[in-house]
Amino acid sequence: MSTHSPLRILVINGPNLNLLGRREAGIYGVATLAEIEASCRAEAATLEVEIDFFQSNHEGVLVERIQQALGACELIIINPAAYTHTSVAIRDALLAVALPVIEVHLSNVHKREPFRHHSYVSDIALGQVIGFGKDGYLLALQGGVRYLRGRASG
Ligand code: DQA
Repeated sequence: MSTHSPLRILVINGPNLNLLGRREAGIYGVATLAEIEASCRAEAATLEVEIDFFQSNHEGVLVERIQQALGACELIIINPAAYTHTSVAIRDALLAVALPVIEVHLSNVHKREPFRHHSYVSDIALGQVIGFGKDGYLLALQGGVRYLRGRASG
């Protein structure tokens, strides 16, 4: 058994993602956010990391949750939802905590309306996982853990 303390990863979801499963299922799929959380928790257990899973419809609440990550986790996975395309405040909070960030979108935003093509997060992110539906969260977890462990071993 490892003597290292487990890596801690914060998974953040923005507005309207609490309605997954009922919301535009043709675009976002039929999985609920609770089901996505359960699969993230199972993947985290397999990867032997800790995760915190959070959703809010409010920009300021998301900013505060990002700020609380300072010193409390090693990586943020975020689907900022509509705030992706509008929020300087969320971008600034991510810059302030200076943690590696992986941006996730269920849909391929680049195949959709032009206003979804710009992200305030993408150029400050370690990477993006876009268009793989609910599996995007698992891919981000796997990629994030590989990145952190690779960084630790030099
Ligand atoms: C989304 C894409 C955004 O454009 C949209 O506002 C969302 C969800 C996605 O996961 O595909 O709410 O972030």
